[in-house]
Amino acid sequence: MFQILLLLGSLLLHEQGSQAAPLVKGNCTQKCGEVTIPFPFGIGTGCFLDEWYEIVCQESSNGSVPVLNKANLRVLNISLPDYNGNTNGIINVSLPILYSSNVSCGVNKSFAPVSLKGSQFVFSESRNVFAAVGCGIRFLMDDTKSAIIGCTSSCGADNDVVGNVTCSGSDGCCQTTITSDLQAFSVNFQPNNGTVGNNECKYAFLGDRSQFVPATTDFDELRASGRFAAVLEWGIAESSEPALEIYNYDYISGDSYYCSTVGFNLGYRVAMPFLQCSCRGGFTGNPYIRHGCEDIDECEDPANRCSGRKCVNRRGYYDCVEGRGSNTIKFLLIGIGAGLGALLLLLFLWLSYKFMMKRKEIKLKERYFKQNGGLLLQQQLHSSENNVDNSKLFDSKDLEKATDNFNKNRILGQGGQGTVYKGMLADGGIVAIKKSKAIDKGKVEQFINEIAILSQINHRNVVKLLGCCLETELPLLVYEFIPNGTLFQYLHAPNEEFIVSWDTRLRIATEVAGALSYLHSSASIPIYHRDIKSTNILLDDKYCAKVADFGTSKSVMLDQTHVTTRVQGTFGYLDPEYFQSSQFTDKSDVYSFGVVLVELLTGQKPISFLRDDEERNLASYFLLSMDDNRLFDIVDAEVLKQGKKEGIVAFASLARSCLNLHGKTRPPMKEVAIELERIRKLENPAMKHGHTQEKRKTKTCWESAVSTDIIALPDQQSFVSIESSYTSSI
Ligand SMILES: *[C@@H]1O[C@H](CO)[C@@H](O)[C@H](O)[C@H]1NC(C)=O
Ligand SMILES: *[C@@H]1O[C@H](CO)[C@@H](O)[C@H](O)[C@H]1NC(C)=O
Ligand SMILES: *[C@@H]1O[C@H](CO)[C@@H](O)[C@H](O)[C@H]1NC(C)=O
Ligand SMILES: *[C@@H]1O[C@H](CO)[C@@H](O)[C@H](O)[C@H]1NC(C)=O
Ligand SMILES: *[C@@H]1O[C@H](CO)[C@@H](O)[C@H](O)[C@H]1NC(C)=O
Ligand SMILES: *[C@@H]1O[C@H](CO)[C@@H](O)[C@H](O)[C@H]1NC(C)=O
Ligand SMILES: *[C@@H]1O[C@H](CO)[C@@H](O)[C@H](O)[C@H]1NC(C)=O
Ligand SMILES: *[C@@H]1O[C@H](CO)[C@@H](O)[C@H](O)[C@H]1NC(C)=O
Repeated sequence: MFQILLLLGSLLLHEQGSQAAPLVKGNCTQKCGEVTIPFPFGIGTGCFLDEWYEIVCQESSNGSVPVLNKANLRVLNISLPDYNGNTNGIINVSLPILYSSNVSCGVNKSFAPVSLKGSQFVFSESRNVFAAVGCGIRFLMDDTKSAIIGCTSSCGADNDVVGNVTCSGSDGCCQTTITSDLQAFSVNFQPNNGTVGNNECKYAFLGDRSQFVPATTDFDELRASGRFAAVLEWGIAESSEPALEIYNYDYISGDSYYCSTVGFNLGYRVAMPFLQCSCRGGFTGNPYIRHGCEDIDECEDPANRCSGRKCVNRRGYYDCVEGRGSNTIKFLLIGIGAGLGALLLLLFLWLSYKFMMKRKEIKLKERYFKQNGGLLLQQQLHSSENNVDNSKLFDSKDLEKATDNFNKNRILGQGGQGTVYKGMLADGGIVAIKKSKAIDKGKVEQFINEIAILSQINHRNVVKLLGCCLETELPLLVYEFIPNGTLFQYLHAPNEEFIVSWDTRLRIATEVAGALSYLHSSASIPIYHRDIKSTNILLDDKYCAKVADFGTSKSVMLDQTHVTTRVQGTFGYLDPEYFQSSQFTDKSDVYSFGVVLVELLTGQKPISFLRDDEERNLASYFLLSMDDNRLFDIVDAEVLKQGKKEGIVAFASLARSCLNLHGKTRPPMKEVAIELERIRKLENPAMKHGHTQEKRKTKTCWESAVSTDIIALPDQQSFVSIESSYTSSI
């Protein structure tokens, strides 16, 4: 009764309705028949991104049917990329079947083969299968460019499709997979072994794997229908208006959405990068429209009852707070009056419930611990000799306490791998706690390996992993807390207050280079970071650099068994060679670091809408300027003021060699670190003599984080100690 009353109360408290988040631009039509058409797709002028995304709503006897106008394809469904579900944007289409002969196949209308060339669409490699039906035939896909795709089919004695078809190639039907860059094809029907009757119908099609089940397919119906469902993957060009708007507005990710660059492995051909954006958890709508991701009112979801407390919707999440509405109080009073006798019974039930839950919780913890590879980790930690307690297994209760039950007010940030909370441990230590996203079971081993490897890294310029907790459904990682934000924020802060001195820039570059060099060569197993960018370089209370976010990094050993067809990284920092070959090497990290060097030198963002087309990418802008002898036009004013010409030129040529298109000719990280150290000494002999010209409000590694009006010049001793500890760490 209690429960029912409370439920009634909470229902009464949340009566206000919600509006659906916008999926289309302005007043554009949102639906054609049953199909929702999200921007960049659209119906009518001004509603779609470009001609490839134009949808025409055709009336037929069955109602309205959406058609992709330029590709002339019937659309069954369009879905936006789902970052949480790790799927690209897909379009379900109805694709024509290709016949060997009009006459023998009994078709009056012939369909032209579909071509998507010039668009940002591909036939999905993972979701489609190429299937062909006929006897003694070689079906070859034409026009596929990067590979030869086809299959061979033969039949039984009666020269017909055998009854129980599995489409194995010997039963009158064959199938094969396609390549990831397929944008167009036609089919060449070649006789395979002599006896091919010209009067029998042969046909081939590309079909949605999940819908083509040979054993239950009625092949006569299939042939007569003339169409089959297939799946396209779509994106938007990196240079298109919304892509640039997203980059310009809030680089790569806002609080309500997240974007990443996805590309396909095309061997050595021009790749097709596209931008994939998705609303973050707690938001819904269309990230391709500005302010298109709207906050979800979680309190409207009956699953989110606060069991007696009041549910309050906040941006991206909901809170349960004390205090009840007046309605609830009325109900409560009646409830207490009437239910006094029942209370004793309830108490008894509650106690036994509590007891059972406790038992269940312990069981669950054990299960999660096993599932998350806890045993594996314990084994690994015991087997390796050198680390004793580098990696600590935290108790889930302690971490809950530390983060105030993962209170939303403690959220520091949300990223691809999970949510980061600020927490205070029982001993007063401040930590950052990352709650991982669900990891798939097959990856547990890699995940554990990563924890084991990261916990062994002990470098002053790498964020320290203090430990983890595997007793919860989603594993928790505990890192040291780094208070002063990212290098990106520091460099590109809109206020003039923080001027980043040349010396600070050199120091940060040297520190990061040292850390990467350590990861590449000094750590027991080489580790590639794979996502070096200024937003992954954190600054501690003394503005020392700390390399963070090893979510995508891999140790070389693990990587050898892992073949990837999807290139991932951050647009603007991505090594073009890796993009084309899908082969990540240590030199790919060097390239990304080169972009960070240019960022430090020029003070400009890696992607900027303010620059011309071909200079939009900072790396190309920098290389073009170097070629034109315009280096000193693009160097940051502050650097020009403080730096020596010789040092700036050396720094620039180092950056240039890191950005070399051929990975082999880029210097290894170790050389980069040594060269940076040399430049730093060259630029700042003051470091040895103990006086400096610096009279600005700059923040440096050894000054306090809080800027005061009095600038304390560091004394000679602290310089020396910084220097020596720095050199020893390299
Ligand atoms: C959308 O429609 C409303 C009313 O139908 C109209 O007032 C408004 O101007 C329209 N907006 C645009 C951008 O056409
Ligand atoms: C109409 O829909 C029915 C059932 O979905 C289908 O069998 C029929 O072929 C459709 N007709 C046209 C003209 O698309
Ligand atoms: C179309 O795709 C959306 C998003 O994936 C999905 O929610 C919806 O159910 C799909 N519609 C149909 C008819 O399959
Ligand atoms: C679209 O394709 C996906 C992937 O194959 C499939 O799961 C889904 O059912 C399809 N939806 C429609 C409406 O055909
Ligand atoms: C099928 O017929 C169309 C005209 O209806 C013709 O253009 C086409 O060439 C024919 N194709 C074959 C393979 O005979
Ligand atoms: C094909 O065309 C012929 C004559 O042009 C017509 O009699 C027949 O009904 C058509 N068949 C179909 C399936 O439309
Ligand atoms: C054709 O098939 C026959 C038996 O079915 C086989 O003996 C012969 O080698 C085949 N020829 C070719 C060129 O595959
Ligand atoms: C093959 O056909 C038999 C009977 O027709 C059926 O029981 C069996 O399930 C079929 N096998 C497959 C793989 O569909």
